Amino acid sequence: MSERLRWGVLGAADIARKAVVPAIEASRNGQVVAIASRDPERARTFGIGRVMGSYDALLESADIDAVYIPLVNSLHQEWTSKALAAGKHVLCEKPLAMNASEAEAMAAAASRHGKLLMEGFMYRFHPRIRQVVTEAHDIREVSASFGFRLRDPANYRARPELGGGALYDVGCYVINLTAWILGQPETVAAEGKSSEGLDTTVSIELGFASGAKAHLFCSIEVEEIQELRLDGLRIDKPFTAWKDPDDPYRLMVEAFADAAFSGSGPPLSLQDSIANLRVMDLVRRRLGLGDLGHRDHLPEAGQ
Ligand SMILES: NC(=O)c1ccc[n+]([C@@H]2O[C@H](COP(=O)([O-])OP(=O)(O)OC[C@H]3O[C@@H](n4cnc5c(N)ncnc54)[C@H](OP(=O)(O)O)[C@@H]3O)[C@@H](O)[C@H]2O)c1
Repeated sequence: MSERLRWGVLGAADIARKAVVPAIEASRNGQVVAIASRDPERARTFGIGRVMGSYDALLESADIDAVYIPLVNSLHQEWTSKALAAGKHVLCEKPLAMNASEAEAMAAAASRHGKLLMEGFMYRFHPRIRQVVTEAHDIREVSASFGFRLRDPANYRARPELGGGALYDVGCYVINLTAWILGQPETVAAEGKSSEGLDTTVSIELGFASGAKAHLFCSIEVEEIQELRLDGLRIDKPFTAWKDPDDPYRLMVEAFADAAFSGSGPPLSLQDSIANLRVMDLVRRRLGLGDLGHRDHLPEAGQ
């Protein structure tokens, strides 16, 4: 392996263009070698040296060590599994999968192939939120909200079959942050608005063995909101708005490359990713969005 991790990107996605490709290029230990897209013309505008018209062809490239997967959520499992089988390390966007069973299969594939797999929760690398969580002791009540207004009806976030909806897009953050602070919940209750299989606003109540509680909100149909309250202490913009003093995307890809070179485990635990999806599975069930195949281990709310 060369000194810099050689990355390939699957999909000319908005988040790759805006944040992750620039972060890899700015990183001390990575470089972007190639990008693959169904639309090579669009991918060419990224300015990456090699543009490929097929995801499979990129995975066959011997000069790529790691693959970044910013595909629509419904494709995360398929392409992560293929990339791991092709001998690549994988950084896959959040949510890692559509449900916990998919994520378990992905984690098993990473272990089988001896490759690194991590979910791209960049906010967890931001020094400010890390400090907030480190200093949070004996918290009894967490409130967290993440919402915005989806204005483009053609965006995949408006299409349930591609993994759209508020829960997958921004709900995964509020659940993940809560578990980082309080551990995994014992009970899950949820209500929300959904139409034709697409959840647009969701409220979630989590209960913890300690007696602590969390009140969570996510939406794709409200004015922008991003907030955390820890026992009443308000922290603004916990998830995305802190490029100062550091870029969490760059810190994430650097930590990932360090782990790939050292052979250590992923900087973010796959068990946490699976647990996050277990809670999301239950929320989806509460909303009547269907059982996605996972048999949960959490008790029903109120039991
Ligand atoms: N960590 C973060 O800060 C952050 C922020 C935003 C999004 N995300 C995550 O990143 C992923 C992509 O989000 P995005 O906003 O960048 O989405 P996007 O611009 O729509 O990109 C999605 C990519 O998926 C591919 N794709 C394959 N089949 C598709 C289909 N049927 N319809 C549409 N696209 C299809 C496309 O690749 P081709 O180039 O091959 O067409 C497209 O570039 C999601 O998992 C999302 O949750 C993370």
